[in-house]
Amino acid sequence: MPVHGRSETDLADESMNTPNLLLNVNGIEVIYNHVALVLKGVSLQVPEGRIVAILGGNGAGKTTTLRAVSNLLKGERGEVTKGTIELQGERVESLSPSDLVRRGVVQVMEGRHCFAHLTIEENLLAGAYTCKDRGQIAANLDKVYTYFPRLKTRRTSQAAYTSGGEQQMCAIGRALMSNPRMVLLDEPSMGLAPQIVEEVFEIVKDLNVKEKVSFLLAEQNTMVALRYSDFGYIVENGRIVMEGEAKSLADNEDVKEFYLGISGEGRKSFRDVKHYRRRKRWLS
Ligand SMILES: Nc1ncnc2c1ncn2[C@@H]1O[C@H](COP(=O)(O)OP(=O)(O)OP(=O)(O)O)[C@@H](O)[C@H]1O
Ligand SMILES: [Mg+2]
Repeated sequence: MPVHGRSETDLADESMNTPNLLLNVNGIEVIYNHVALVLKGVSLQVPEGRIVAILGGNGAGKTTTLRAVSNLLKGERGEVTKGTIELQGERVESLSPSDLVRRGVVQVMEGRHCFAHLTIEENLLAGAYTCKDRGQIAANLDKVYTYFPRLKTRRTSQAAYTSGGEQQMCAIGRALMSNPRMVLLDEPSMGLAPQIVEEVFEIVKDLNVKEKVSFLLAEQNTMVALRYSDFGYIVENGRIVMEGEAKSLADNEDVKEFYLGISGEGRKSFRDVKHYRRRKRWLS
């Protein structure tokens, strides 16, 4: 089994203890409203304890991929029509979203979706709905406050009156309340100031290292995502067009030009790079 996401030295260190494959998505197709084929055979892997990024522009299929894994497509009139999704070798396509939470897979939606009228602490407690053990819930809450001290300060504030960054932290904290082994994180940087984006990603990395939580994250912010991830997949028009170690993707000339707006001739706007050129390079 190829294990991605670590340097050669790390891999050598880990050779005695090869990380297990946590998630294996194999050739999935997704159709919306019975007609629109949006994912056209997406395959990706998340080894235990890694941060894996799905990158790509608007409408590429990032959210759809995460929703396929967390089984949240039904509400969008979408369905997986081909391929398989395995969690630690077990097929999970027919599990409900809450069964998946019980198995340790939880999604943080794009746009954060905090309960606006509840306090930060009430929002966090809502994330513990699969857990009945009060002691465990209290311990999880303490842990969330350790990683997100800002949330502790704002625990009695109504979510609607907290900042975008605090709401994103609240959404991630709420997901952590179910003790996940893997968090599916959709566009954590969306709408946040660069400094707050860094703060959120630093906490994600910390959770990954200290709590061994794996992340599959969808991001348009390629530069930041690659800096914090082990491995990346680039999606275009429902297909994976490139994949690799985060460092090698960040150094790749096509990635730099198409997604970072940097080319041999210097920096240019992302908008200047015509979509058809990317299609020509990768999809022909
Ligand atoms: N509920 C839906 N019904 C029909 N088509 C949809 C639905 N949701 C998404 N799509 C379409 O599926 C494609 C992929 O959308 P998706 O939301 O997965 O992209 P994305 O990569 O997450 O984009 P963004 O970066 O803008 O969030 C787009 O063409 C989109 O219009
Ligand atoms: Mg999206």
